[in-house]
Amino acid sequence: MIRLVDVHKAFGPKRVLEGFTLDVNEGETMVIIGYSGTGKSVAIKHIVGLLEPDSGTVFVDGQEVPRLSRAELYALRSHIGYVFQFAALFDSLSIGENVAMGLRKEGGHTEREIVQRVGEALELVDLPGVEEKFPAELSGGMRKRVGIARAIARQPKYLLYDEPTTGLDPVTSAIIDQLMIRMREKLGVTSIVITHDMRSAYTVGSRIAMLYEGKVRQVGTVDEIQHTRDPVVRQFIEGKPDLDLVEAGV
Ligand SMILES: Nc1ncnc2c1ncn2[C@@H]1O[C@H](COP(=O)(O)OP(=O)(O)OP(=O)(O)O)[C@@H](O)[C@H]1O
Ligand SMILES: [Mg+2]
Repeated sequence: MIRLVDVHKAFGPKRVLEGFTLDVNEGETMVIIGYSGTGKSVAIKHIVGLLEPDSGTVFVDGQEVPRLSRAELYALRSHIGYVFQFAALFDSLSIGENVAMGLRKEGGHTEREIVQRVGEALELVDLPGVEEKFPAELSGGMRKRVGIARAIARQPKYLLYDEPTTGLDPVTSAIIDQLMIRMREKLGVTSIVITHDMRSAYTVGSRIAMLYEGKVRQVGTVDEIQHTRDPVVRQFIEGKPDLDLVEAGV
């Protein structure tokens, strides 16, 4: 279980998180939605200790992340796959080496094991046999899938996806959605998915949380969010440009 408890985080004078609280249960896919720049990426970076809260705290499986030693943090990170917002593959490394990176860093695997795990991960994202290719040879959607393969190669218990479908066409996005569902169903992974894409949110989410002004504005099932009476959440999910204008019927 992942718990963010009353997390506050500012960068200089800019207050980003101001009491962010969210529980993610075993086996669920929690979708985080919210306007650009509200701190969605900042929030999930706290889960893997890439950022430390100014106050409040974060627990993963009962371990308090900001209190972990460096060694404990590395051990924790081996259970958490992270698909970064800007899927940074290393252009000079083959796809196979990109996917193997976490396994190599972790150590303790034979070359055979690594090759096998990389092959399995690429198969799970429907890209079998691309080990020898280089990132430049793949489309944006394929690169996103390699990013997912890299995150799952260590067989993590948790997967954090930061905008996995942004910038992709609808069909490719739907493929990524199906992959995320497959990770949950086949591997029993617990996930957090950040997205702007409401269609994707409704497809993959067990629950949806909206981040607004530093806090979770509402968290609920897909059905609860779709039927929300909160005007702020409504406005976001319906993609309306301005609440006042809409209400005035302009
Ligand atoms: N390391 C950092 N140092 C300074 N400011 C930061 C840092 N990381 C994030 N910020 C600021 O925190 C705010 C929230 O950023 P964040 O990337 O979490 O937004 P987001 O909700 O993920 O947006 P988007 O949907 O565009 O990805 C932004 O104003 C950003 O500039
Ligand atoms: Mg972001």
